[in-house]
Amino acid sequence: MAKSKKYYYCQECGYQSASWLGRCPECGKWNTMVEEVVKAAVSSVKASQRSISPTSKPKLIKDVTYSETTRIPTHYPELDRVLGGGIVPGSLILIGGEPGIGKSTLLLQTALSITNLRVLYVSGEESEQQIKMRADRINQHNNTCYVVSETVTQRIFEHIEQVQPDLVVIDSIQTISTEHVDSASGSVSQIRECTTEFQRFAKESGVPVLLIGHITKDGTLAGPKVMEHIVDCVLQFEGDRNYGFRMLRSLKNRFGSTAELGIFEMQGDGLREVANPSEFLLSQRDENLSGAAIGATLEGARPMFIEVQSLVSSAVYGTPQRNANGFDYRRLSMLLAVLEKRCGFKLAAKDVFLNIAGGIKVADPALDLAVVCSILSSNVDIAISPKFCFAAEMGLSGEIRPVARVEQRVGEANRLGFEKIFISKYNGKAIKQSKYDIEIVQVGVIEEAFRKLFA
Ligand code: TYD
Ligand code: MG
Repeated sequence: MAKSKKYYYCQECGYQSASWLGRCPECGKWNTMVEEVVKAAVSSVKASQRSISPTSKPKLIKDVTYSETTRIPTHYPELDRVLGGGIVPGSLILIGGEPGIGKSTLLLQTALSITNLRVLYVSGEESEQQIKMRADRINQHNNTCYVVSETVTQRIFEHIEQVQPDLVVIDSIQTISTEHVDSASGSVSQIRECTTEFQRFAKESGVPVLLIGHITKDGTLAGPKVMEHIVDCVLQFEGDRNYGFRMLRSLKNRFGSTAELGIFEMQGDGLREVANPSEFLLSQRDENLSGAAIGATLEGARPMFIEVQSLVSSAVYGTPQRNANGFDYRRLSMLLAVLEKRCGFKLAAKDVFLNIAGGIKVADPALDLAVVCSILSSNVDIAISPKFCFAAEMGLSGEIRPVARVEQRVGEANRLGFEKIFISKYNGKAIKQSKYDIEIVQVGVIEEAFRKLFA
């Protein structure tokens, strides 16, 4: 009989303590310690002492071989790209997202699309019938995907032994528990131990495991940060639930870039890939309305053209309102302050609302110029032609700064049939106007852009 021990774990960072503390000494958060009972002898000691493979021995790094082709393609290029080119054998991949965003749908679709390999889909949340209903809804069926409703890791490993799958999906880690830990499923020590067990299994067998994880209200993965350390890949599935768009971002990837972004659209019959988001986002705009401007942004390696909409109106109350959807609020305040200083924009007398079309969130600073121009456009009530686009950052003194990979942005704008692209003059040297049909407008300061647009 294993001896049980009580520990206190920080729900935020996973810090472990023998006594309760009001404030976690690791992450500094208050009131996050919870008591959990751990069967010490079985779980932490023996399990961690077990070797990954009894025959492992050190090799020269030059003698270690692998081939790129062994990655498992998922038949969803968007997902493959975010993963860095398919699923690496023996990897442990965590897919996080808010409830209802579509994680189960994404992974079930993935499981069903892989027809040449055996997949085991384990659900701790849904029954086999419910999974089947979902499969009917997305209308995908195959002869190689097994489903089981199970919540205890030891039994999951028995099922794996029996089915001998080439890929395992666990939906979700918060509903799974191990017999080695006494606390309830979803607690810090359960999540940590279960993740470690799956990691050990993946590394020993070479079978990749996809874990679904829930996200807490403030947007971090529920459970301790330690889980993020254990897994090879952390993907985040996000999007505005009022829109169909879903974005898959890579937050950590041991086998690929974290700059990649995959875009999907939730439809009545499952998730569909959006291979060309720009055409999709821009097709639905009205002509000649003031306050709209198009930014040529890059998400990972992919150019994405997004529409920024602003509404500037006279403030009715003393304190003007500011609101930004899909854009960093503090950055908006900064841009407004620069506009006040350089363009005579009367900040204190105006309400400013900013919206990025399609419920998309972007972090590319190249969107600055589009944001600023859309605000100015709404302010003077003069429309910017839908055939113009913008790609530049704005500095604190109103200077228009260069952005990365401007050729790619100009090339894509050219391809999409834009007539003018506004870029920083410091980017100008990298670009030959003669190569493109699109007119490349170079600006140095914000006043210059204002004059060229509205004068
Ligand atoms: P789900 O995959 O269950 O989300 P998660 O596992 O992240 O909690 O998806 C839930 C939402 O997606 C649900 O509100 C219904 C919607 N949905 C569709 O719109 N179309 C579909 O084909 C499916 C399967 C779900
Ligand atoms: Mg689910």
